[in-house]
Amino acid sequence: LTARLSFSPAFPLAPVRRRLFGGFVEHMGRCVYGGIYDPAHPSAGADGFRGDVLALVRELGVTVVRYPGGNFVSGYRWEDGIGPRANRPVRLDPAWHSVETNEVGLDEFNRWTRRAEVEPMLALNLGTRGVQHALDLLEYANHPSGTRLSDFRTANGTPVPHGIRLWCLGNEMDGSWQIGHKTADEYGRLAAETARAMRMVDPGLELVACGSSHSRMSTFGAWESTVLERAIEQIDHISAHAYYAPADDLGSFLASATDMDRMISSVVATADAVAARAGSRRKITVAFDEWNVWHQPSEPPDEWTRAPRISEDTFTVADAVVAGDLLITLLNHADRVAVACQAQLVNVLAPIRTEPDGPAWRQTIFHPFALTARLARATVLRTEFEAPEYDTARYGRVPLVSATVTHQPDGEAVVFAVNRHRHEPIELTVDPAAVAGHAIAEHIVLTDADLTATNTCDAPERVRPRRLSPPPGAAVELPPVSWNALRLR
Ligand code: AHR
Repeated sequence: LTARLSFSPAFPLAPVRRRLFGGFVEHMGRCVYGGIYDPAHPSAGADGFRGDVLALVRELGVTVVRYPGGNFVSGYRWEDGIGPRANRPVRLDPAWHSVETNEVGLDEFNRWTRRAEVEPMLALNLGTRGVQHALDLLEYANHPSGTRLSDFRTANGTPVPHGIRLWCLGNEMDGSWQIGHKTADEYGRLAAETARAMRMVDPGLELVACGSSHSRMSTFGAWESTVLERAIEQIDHISAHAYYAPADDLGSFLASATDMDRMISSVVATADAVAARAGSRRKITVAFDEWNVWHQPSEPPDEWTRAPRISEDTFTVADAVVAGDLLITLLNHADRVAVACQAQLVNVLAPIRTEPDGPAWRQTIFHPFALTARLARATVLRTEFEAPEYDTARYGRVPLVSATVTHQPDGEAVVFAVNRHRHEPIELTVDPAAVAGHAIAEHIVLTDADLTATNTCDAPERVRPRRLSPPPGAAVELPPVSWNALRLR
């Protein structure tokens, strides 16, 4: 089996937006408590944040981190999480049937983002709250001083404003499971009015309206259309979320990126259609601010507890190949996807796992993310692509190979490619015109004879990327079910 990839630095698609390598920290399960924050852990600093987790977050190359939810945010009172810890209330979190102690709130999270060297992306509660609370939170977070809430922030130990630019206007408001769930019309009006008021304070904010929770929502498309009809002049990005579950049908699972690809194209087409009808020049971009593989949503325990173990999926080699393919898809839409966040960052559906008295380790999905974030630089190129196809139960006939190419001013190009074939290698030829004067200098691959292999606390390095000897010519063999990075120099 053979495939062929052609490209030229003369045909750029878009810059490699660094915000495509985002993550997500939600007050859910052990993502915050027992994940990024655990004062009892030997690696924790005086601020209670785990040093070993911070080191892995930096190694992962995450650039922007969404916080504090997720479903959690739709019932959250941000004021509970500021001020002296002794005065912070303990509350019920209905979204995850958990007890929220509020030990970590906005100020702590922002200190953590500075240590992790990431940009914060803050989500507002538009489930149980509205315009006034959004304005209060904005004043507390970003206003320099001289007002009640900004002076309160200074009194709480943060005189320098957080300077948060990127804000989510709620979370998954299309979902019947969401606290304060709304119709598209109700939400569109609320998003527009919240955005309008926030822009009166700071016109430079970047605002994300909620799109669909997944592409199988019965309202998918119609939701985006109505929300954008109400809010297109006030917002910059519309969100998209997608999680892909491994099933008995491995062929369909390996083609999961097909759904993400179609979802992005549909949302972009809808946004452009709304703009055309409204006579608007706005080019809305997509914030794919939750994406990942998710095995099976796990229910929290019946009793109300702090930081229960929820959705601590142990990812396989096949999951990592799919996650890498999803990143390839995001890069191939870099002209219209402005932000993307793998959900989540630690313990919950996460590239990084921890144990309370033990280590932090890299799950399989850590590797394609870290390598893509490190190697994808400068510009995504347009590609012409010929690949054999296969039939899938979920997505119909799809290519057996997916790929994207990035290119740097110094001439280095990197091809990221996935072979979705379950048994056969595929020979990928990189168009010799594109590599004139170049050679494939490095071939990094993530694959394994056992597609169910995982990394665990006891065997944290069982699955890792390997370097293969680069081929002498312009053709390289992609092993079956593999994620690959090829450096051309
Ligand atoms: O990431 C886990 C959950 O998935 C989020 O809280 C929610 O927004 C989505 O449904």
